[in-house]
Amino acid sequence: MADASASGSGSGPSAATTALPTTTTQDDIATTHHAGPLEADNDNPDDEGYQESSTSSLLSSIASEIRQGHIENGRMYANYGKHEYLLPIDDEELDRLDLNHTKYYLLMQNKHFLAPLPEDPQNALDIGCGTGIWAIDFADKYPSCSVIGTDIAPVQPQWVPPNCNFQIDDAELDWTFQENHFDYIHLRDLYQAIRDWPKLVSQAFTHVKPGGYVEFCAIHPQPATDDNTLDPTSAYMQLADVWEKAGALINCEPDSAKRFKQWFVEAGFEAVEEYVLKVPSSPWPKDPRMKRIGAYELMNVLEGARGFMMRGWTKECGLTLEELEMAIMRLKKELPSNKMHSYIPFYVVIGRKPASSQS
Ligand SMILES: C[S@@+](CC[C@H](N)C(=O)[O-])C[C@H]1O[C@@H](n2cnc3c(N)ncnc32)[C@H](O)[C@@H]1O
Repeated sequence: MADASASGSGSGPSAATTALPTTTTQDDIATTHHAGPLEADNDNPDDEGYQESSTSSLLSSIASEIRQGHIENGRMYANYGKHEYLLPIDDEELDRLDLNHTKYYLLMQNKHFLAPLPEDPQNALDIGCGTGIWAIDFADKYPSCSVIGTDIAPVQPQWVPPNCNFQIDDAELDWTFQENHFDYIHLRDLYQAIRDWPKLVSQAFTHVKPGGYVEFCAIHPQPATDDNTLDPTSAYMQLADVWEKAGALINCEPDSAKRFKQWFVEAGFEAVEEYVLKVPSSPWPKDPRMKRIGAYELMNVLEGARGFMMRGWTKECGLTLEELEMAIMRLKKELPSNKMHSYIPFYVVIGRKPASSQS
């Protein structure tokens, strides 16, 4: 087992159950760990050793074509992929993804994953890797592991650890990787993107090794509260409702993160664990770590909302840009006041492929 808690990256569920969520529910084959209540504060890489990835020259030749993407309302969207991805892929959005990476690292108590990986995984895959920041961190931690990051957008850096490669790939198509190959498959925040989750989970099952782990994590972007401070007439709730409606209109299951556990069990995984963590919407909690996570989330929403809402807001839901600007203006007054003690649930689901399984 990797001693991830000491090294600051990754740990097994047993460590996670003591340090992360505080209540646990269990049925016959799967377990859920819920984060406990948050208390409100009422007082109110170094690049050395990196090399150009072996696929980078090929990538750069096709990248310019694909990267052209196309512009809508001043934002760039991906050209590649079987289905439309609702979020932009431009620099502003990539900054948001890197900010979120730091936020999730704090949320998972200085870990990049919760699966109980062996000390020396040999092959790992990060699906929909975005800027590649998670894959790069994982490759740095396990220098003898070959790490592949895939995405429909070629937005990853060219200077990466020698054991890290990026590929342009649509996770919804049939995978061309070897079967029973990866020690570990990771996916985070593929929201407003995936239409057929059961197929994706089933492909992950096929391509992970017997005894290997798959870990999917994502927010369920419906704000929640433990003390009834969420205002249903707030701009924050309006944005969340439009987000959910836009997802439903393009057949992206709005509840996907909540259903990962069920889909893992149905695909044949064993030892399925679900962690439900809380991302505070602003720095309202008393606990200093949660307050910091809330500050990251506030920045994510205030700086990112225009980008992550725009396409769903206009193209799918038929609302105007002016209406979006008005909502963001209201949001900028509401959220920083810390009056709403709201949070977004973040689901982490881990499953192991049975040692006896070969498909
Ligand atoms: C919200 S970002 C998350 C990126 C990264 N996983 C992270 O947590 O930082 C979602 C990413 O999924 C990619 N994506 C969307 N649809 C995809 C698909 N069908 N196959 C592969 N990647 C996809 C997007 O281009 C984007 O980079």
